[in-house]
Amino acid sequence: MSKRRLALVASVSAAAIALTGFVTTSAKAATGFVGVILPDAASSARWESADRPFLKAAFEKAGVTADIQNANGDKAAFATIADQMLTKGAKVLIMVNLDSDSAKAVQDKAKAQGVPTIDYDRLTLNGSASYYVSFDNVAVGKLQGQGIVNCLKAKGVKKPRVVYLNGSPTDNNATLFKQGYASVVGPYLKSTGGTLVADQAVPDWDNVKGGTIFEQMLTKAGGKLDAVVSANEGLGLAAVAVLKKNKLNGKVCVSGQDATVDGLRAVLTGDLSNTVYKAIKAEAQGAADLAVALINGKAAKTNGTTDNGTVKVPSVLLVPVGITKSNVKVVIADGFQKKADVCKGITKLCTAAGIK
Ligand code: BGC
Repeated sequence: MSKRRLALVASVSAAAIALTGFVTTSAKAATGFVGVILPDAASSARWESADRPFLKAAFEKAGVTADIQNANGDKAAFATIADQMLTKGAKVLIMVNLDSDSAKAVQDKAKAQGVPTIDYDRLTLNGSASYYVSFDNVAVGKLQGQGIVNCLKAKGVKKPRVVYLNGSPTDNNATLFKQGYASVVGPYLKSTGGTLVADQAVPDWDNVKGGTIFEQMLTKAGGKLDAVVSANEGLGLAAVAVLKKNKLNGKVCVSGQDATVDGLRAVLTGDLSNTVYKAIKAEAQGAADLAVALINGKAAKTNGTTDNGTVKVPSVLLVPVGITKSNVKVVIADGFQKKADVCKGITKLCTAAGIK
């Protein structure tokens, strides 16, 4: 049988099954599932420690089966996972892209098979996703930049020497984060007569490469640095490790993002000056709600649109929160991290920070 004919037979029987399902069973028992592809497990602890469990819980609550897989930074694996999900009858694909081109190919293929896709956290430029769920990522960058400026002011630095340790050039979010922090830190440097000593992106958000790149930046700066505007905690903590070797940790302001256990601990010890908390539980719930609406053919609630270069994608965009020592407690009170994990061995710092 030709491939085309096979596809035709498959779609007819799928329709027949759907029809039977409609007559005899509840929507919950409909065939098919939602496929979720996470990007990697190394660029940030968030994907496996927060996104996966929150997505799993949201779909369980909705009574919808979710197959959550991780591409581990491999674009070929990303495409293979998507193909397998489509073959197995996924009704919706949710994805965090590794870059726009490879994700666009997956989205276009899914669309051609009548399977809608959702961009989760990262926008796929020129892609064909039906929805985009994320945070206001320029706002994330502004919070990072403002935290750095506040830290420099608190340390009384007159003419700050600063570096930008940017996220992956293939991640649209990294572009938006930088847009945000450059809009705050740039004018501050101008008004104080400070210097942007280096400005470099870290391929694939690779934390190890981030450390190496930062080490080179520190050398370039002659060891004289006041702040590292780092795009996430993985990179920020890689910079902190280098600063530690040079006995400069705590003296240099360093930003982060993701409110991971290690990140929050570093905020409490003063190794990171500030980070950003994104309520991933709400992001996961947002994606699950949209997927369930797509399965049921219902309209879903969105709060804006995002231009992906080709079309305006209906979006759910959430609000990030800036974190310093004084409000780490907010992240714990929200249930995003556990006090036992964050405060292990540093209970005095936790008490001082009002963490109950
Ligand atoms: C996410 C960040 C994450 C980074 C590296 C970005 O797209 O928004 O939360 O730290 O990717 O995985």
